[in-house]
Amino acid sequence: RGERAGEQDLAGRHVVISAGGTREPLDPVRFLGNRSTGRQGYALARAAVARGARVTLVSVNSELADPAGADVVRAGTAAQLREAVLKAAADADAVVMAAAVADFRPAHYAQGKIKKQEGAEPEPLALVRNPDILAEISADRARPGQIVVGFAAETDDVLANGRAKLARKGCDLLVVNEVGEHKTFGSDANEAVVLAADGTETPVPYGPKDALADTVWDLVAARLG
Ligand code: CTP
Ligand code: CA
Repeated sequence: RGERAGEQDLAGRHVVISAGGTREPLDPVRFLGNRSTGRQGYALARAAVARGARVTLVSVNSELADPAGADVVRAGTAAQLREAVLKAAADADAVVMAAAVADFRPAHYAQGKIKKQEGAEPEPLALVRNPDILAEISADRARPGQIVVGFAAETDDVLANGRAKLARKGCDLLVVNEVGEHKTFGSDANEAVVLAADGTETPVPYGPKDALADTVWDLVAARLG
């Protein structure tokens, strides 16, 4: 577990956590989605409740049971997630973006189910960029001293990509993990390194997502002072 797990070091603090993965609808029955289950974000919410925080969990298409003691708000798309996070972040001491956010959404939503055309190849799917929620909340902190944490799943050059991403996003901490088909998604364990804007790196050995959650809160609590 983290060094200070079991302490009430987040008492009196409001923390916001997003968890799960966005779904961007194409038509009433189809969407573009990802493999995130929400496990890491839910572990973060449970750990924060245990450490005394008031917790808002923005749950995005996750089937996991509501963590006891957290306020759960639901969102489906990146646009809904952005709205929910910005609203909850207004009085938050820390915001953790553990959700997997679609970078793109379909440019058009079909009101009726998209049908095959006899003998014709499909049209290419037009996509547009989604807003970058993490970059936005990092740039416009709702409160002075608010701590913002991002997550990054990388497949190659994990540390170099993580450092560049931390700088680009402007957040305080970036939890970087290596993903592959059998790593991270839907599993209960994780291996990561937490990169901080002050240059420090905290390796987290392979272990339960609960342990990574407590390490994240150790680093957040230290920065909240
Ligand atoms: N994120 C976000 N809004 C987006 C995309 C990502 O808030 N539109 C957040 C995620 O919740 C995560 C962090 O940014 O905390 C990093 O996500 P990632 O997909 O790794 O970053 P990208 O900038 O989208 O980089 P890439 O091109 O590698 O996907
Ligand atoms: Ca992305």
